[in-house]
Amino acid sequence: MIHNLKINSEEEYYSTYKRSIENPELFWDEIAENFLWQKKWTKTLEWDFTIPKVKWFIGGKLNITENCLDRYLNSQGDKTAIIWEPNNPNEFSKHITYKELHKLVCRFANVLKNNNIKKRDRVCIYMPMIPELAIAMLACARIGAIHSIVFAGFSSKAIANRINDSSCKMLITTNEMYRGTKTIPLKEICDEALKDCPSIEKVIVFKRTNAITIMDQNRDVFWHKEIEKVNDINTAEIMDAEDELFILYTSGSTGKPKGMVHTTGGYMVGITYTFLNVFQVLQDDIYWCTADIGWITGHSYIIYGPLCAGATTVMFEGVPSYPDYGRFWQIVEKHKITHFYTAPTAIRTLEKQSLSFIETHDISSLKVLGSVGEPINEEAWQWYHNNIGKGNIPIVDTWWQTETGAIMISSLAGITKEKPTYTTLPMPGVQPVLMNDEGNVIEEKNAEGRLAIKFPWPSMARTIWGNHIRYKEVYFSTFNNKYFTGDGALRDENEYYRITGRVDDIVIVSGHNLGTAPIENAVNEHPKVVESAIVGFPHEIKGNALYGFVILYQSEDASSELKVEINKVISTDIGPIAKLDKIQFVEGLPKTRSGKIMRRILRKIACNEISNLGDISTLLNPEVIEAIKENSL
Ligand code: WT7
Repeated sequence: MIHNLKINSEEEYYSTYKRSIENPELFWDEIAENFLWQKKWTKTLEWDFTIPKVKWFIGGKLNITENCLDRYLNSQGDKTAIIWEPNNPNEFSKHITYKELHKLVCRFANVLKNNNIKKRDRVCIYMPMIPELAIAMLACARIGAIHSIVFAGFSSKAIANRINDSSCKMLITTNEMYRGTKTIPLKEICDEALKDCPSIEKVIVFKRTNAITIMDQNRDVFWHKEIEKVNDINTAEIMDAEDELFILYTSGSTGKPKGMVHTTGGYMVGITYTFLNVFQVLQDDIYWCTADIGWITGHSYIIYGPLCAGATTVMFEGVPSYPDYGRFWQIVEKHKITHFYTAPTAIRTLEKQSLSFIETHDISSLKVLGSVGEPINEEAWQWYHNNIGKGNIPIVDTWWQTETGAIMISSLAGITKEKPTYTTLPMPGVQPVLMNDEGNVIEEKNAEGRLAIKFPWPSMARTIWGNHIRYKEVYFSTFNNKYFTGDGALRDENEYYRITGRVDDIVIVSGHNLGTAPIENAVNEHPKVVESAIVGFPHEIKGNALYGFVILYQSEDASSELKVEINKVISTDIGPIAKLDKIQFVEGLPKTRSGKIMRRILRKIACNEISNLGDISTLLNPEVIEAIKENSL
C-alpha cells in the first residue's frame, strides 16, 4: 500500500493545508511523485477558469491500471484486491488478489482489442455490481478506451441517450441481474436501447444467470467465449496525463444529461490522496463502500482510489434489505469490514428498522464510518454514531460531486475533529469560498452563502463531452473566475463547512442527483399533459422527494390512474428513481411576465410553507396560487 501520503495529526493537517495553498504546484508535485509514471510531467499546472482550461501534470505519461495493479504485483500480489459479495448470501463470495485481477484485466483488455476497440473509443458499460464490471472498466483504462458506465437502474431510453451523446462503439452488459428478490433482464433493456444507437458495433454479454439470452449474431458476443480467444498478456497503453479516462453522466438543468469528462493523471492523484487521508486505511484493513460503480462514488472510492492505494475493496451486488435489513451488518461481520462508507438515505432506512438487525451481528471490526451524497441530518448522524459506531469511532462526512472527481470537504478519520451535520474542512489543495448574492466572496468566517472553489484541483472534470460551452456556462459563469458547485453552505467560527443543499434545479433524492428539467420533459410527453413543474420537498427517508404540478388539456382526465401513467413515462424515460411521490393536477402554474415558472413558490407549497410565499408581485397570474394552495397534497 501507499502509506507515506498520509497526514497523521491535526497539526499536520493544518500545516499541510497551509502549504497546499501557498504553493499548490509544489504540493501536488510531491504527491504525484508517489505514483508510477512512464514519463515525468514537465509542468504541473496550466489553468484559466475563463476559458475554462485546466491541465495537470502536463507531459506526464502513465496508465492508471499500472498504478492499480502492476505496481503491486511484487510487493503484494497475493493480497486481496476485491472481495465480492453476491446478492444471495448463500452464493459464494469471491476474493480476487492483485495478481489475479491483473490477469483478468489484461485478458479482457485483449478481448476489447480483439473486438476492434482502440484508444479513445467510447465503451458503454451497463452492468450490475459483479467483478466483471470492475474488470471491464479497468480493461478499458488499460487500452486507453474511454468508459462510460451507465447505472444499471436506468431505462433503455436513458441508455440510448448516453450512448448516442458520446457515440459509444461498444456496449458491455449482462444477460440478467439480481437485485434482492428480483431478476432484471438487462440484455433486453439494452436491445430496446440499441434500436436507436447506430454507433454501437459490438455488444459483449456476460452471463450472470442461466437464462437463455437472445443474441444478435451480427452484433452480440458472449464474454466467456471471447476470453477463450485471447491470452492474459497485455502491455498497458501509455496515456498522456490529460487523456480522457472516462465519461460519467450527471443530470443538469436541461433535458440532456452532462457527460462529465475525467482525465487520467490528475484524477488518479486526487482520488488516491483523498482516499488515503480521509479514510486512513491500513495494510490489513477491509474497506467497503456501498455505492454502485454506476455513480462517481463507485468509480473513485470502490475501484480507482482503493486499488491505486493498494487496499482491499469490497463490492456488494445486492441491496441492504435482502434477505433482511440486517444484510449490511451480516456482511460487515462476514468479511470483518473495518471501513464502511454509505449514504444518508441508507442510514435513514436502516434507522427505521429494529435494532435486533444489528445486535445479532458482531460488527466490532469497524474502525471508520463514512457518509456521502447528501447532507446527513443530526438524527441519522447520531443513530449511525451510536448504533453502528458504538459511540466511539469516527464518521467522515464527505462532500464532493461527480464533477469534482474526489472528496473536497471532509474530516480525516481520527485525525481532524468532526461535527455532526458538518462536512468540516477542505482537503489540502482545495480552496472553497462562500459567495453572496451580489457575487462577491464573503470574507467573514461565520457566514452562509453559495459554495464555490477558487483554484483548480487535479481531479476536477475537464469538460462536458462534446459541449465545452455548456461546461463553461454551468460551472464557470455564475461567479467570476470560480467553479460554482450549485450547493449552498454555512461556515462556522472554526471555518468548518456545512452543506445546506442545492440552490439550483437539481434535487438530491435518495442520494441521486436528479435534474427537474429532464423529468418535466418526460411528463410533458404524456399526451394528456400540457405542462408541468417539478420541485423537491423534504422526505423522511429519501432526504428529498419529488412533487409534480401538472396541467392537463382536459381537467376531467385527472385521476389516480393518470398519476400512475405519468410515473410510468418517467420510469421509461429516465428510470424508476425519478418517479414523483406526489402529483397535483393544477389549472395553471405561477409564471413571471417573461413566462418563467416561479419554482420558488411551488417549492414552498410542496414543503407546506404556505403562510408566507414571499414576494409574488412579479407574477403574471397570481390568481392561480390560491387554487394550488387549496388543493396541495
Ligand atoms: C451533490 C453531488 C459525491 C458523490 C455522490 C453524489 C450533494 C454530496 C454530500 C455531503 C451534503 C452532499 C451535494 C452535491 N452531496 N455529498 N457529504 N453533504 N451534500 O455525487 O450525484 O454528483 O451529487 O450531492 O448537493 O452537489 P453527485
